[in-house]
Amino acid sequence: MNLNDRIATAIHDKDLADVINAILASDVSELTAEQVDMLRRADTACNNIRDLCHQASGELCDQFDRAGIGYQIDEQELNASQIHQFSISLQDRNPTQAMSIARQLGYHPAATLSGAEWEIFWRSNDGTVLTRTDDVTMRLRLRWPQSNRTAWQAPFWPNLDDAALVPLPTSLWRLVFALRPIAILARRLGTPRRKTSIGEFLGTPVDLVPQLLAFADLKATDVVYDLGCGDGRILVEAARRYGCRAVGYELDKSLCRIASDLATRQGVDHLVEIHNVDAMAADVQRANVMFLFQPPETVARLVPKLLQQLPQGGRIIAHEQSRLECDPSASETRPLFSKDALTVAHLWKAEPRRDA
Ligand SMILES: C[S@@+](CC[C@H](N)C(=O)[O-])C[C@H]1O[C@@H](n2cnc3c(N)ncnc32)[C@H](O)[C@@H]1O
Repeated sequence: MNLNDRIATAIHDKDLADVINAILASDVSELTAEQVDMLRRADTACNNIRDLCHQASGELCDQFDRAGIGYQIDEQELNASQIHQFSISLQDRNPTQAMSIARQLGYHPAATLSGAEWEIFWRSNDGTVLTRTDDVTMRLRLRWPQSNRTAWQAPFWPNLDDAALVPLPTSLWRLVFALRPIAILARRLGTPRRKTSIGEFLGTPVDLVPQLLAFADLKATDVVYDLGCGDGRILVEAARRYGCRAVGYELDKSLCRIASDLATRQGVDHLVEIHNVDAMAADVQRANVMFLFQPPETVARLVPKLLQQLPQGGRIIAHEQSRLECDPSASETRPLFSKDALTVAHLWKAEPRRDA
């Protein structure tokens, strides 16, 4: 296995720091200067990621201590060294105060829930993931003790679709139990459900964007798409650096606004289009370069379909720290590192179409 593949495998196996240390501690005389440099950058990224996680968890735990909230940190995850993520388990079964402190520190849940919706959510789940987006996105997994619900209670227990039928204040959350049969009936009669997300917002670490664009071998004539473009960081940088047209689809309205503002601030709004439309309904006819930063199962589903639609020479670039089991498999895979982030980038090239 060559060094690139060995490092990519270590990232997928979540033991990058150990593998790098083992390689650097052995005889590196067989490696090129470029390879040693890559290992050193990877080592720096691991150390910085661990420091960022310690700093972020320290900030939050200080606030929990001040508020008298009991918690436990998952030390193993905190020291994982390659993922911007830490986990905290609350001792108390009511996470409302902890969530409010986390929000004050800039952590956002995937969906903003208030009143009865939030009450139903936390009583039905034993945790959630919050993210704080900056140049890198920090993920906080917050857990709390789950209630002991018996099997016979389960069918009567309302879900978020039931709670969304009528917005109720927190104090009236129990009313959602009474509304559940009506909500079920309304759905049978065709009331639309919540839109389904193909993946939550995690921005590609800003320092990795130029490397991903270089990996895609962008040209000014390319039309770059990002399905689930988040705050538009990839599209805007593609337009700014390469002068190419860039089109994004994003489900979240507020992210669309942020992406459009970013394009304006960077003086590339004439090149960047942002659509607040479900990416699954995207018209990709103009695309010849497609970026995907989505959960592995979503990428596996989209890659074969998109390869059929792209013109010859079109490229798909996906990146993830988890394995992407796609059919066909990527023509090139490369680990990428910046000072405090890392990922594995994959590239697929579209073959000539059979119908051409
Ligand atoms: C992991 S983020 C990637 C953001 C951006 N591409 C980047 O690399 O920084 C995935 C994004 O996809 C969006 N998303 C999820 N499901 C979607 C859908 N069905 N249509 C459009 N966007 C969607 C999410 O809101 C989120 O912003």
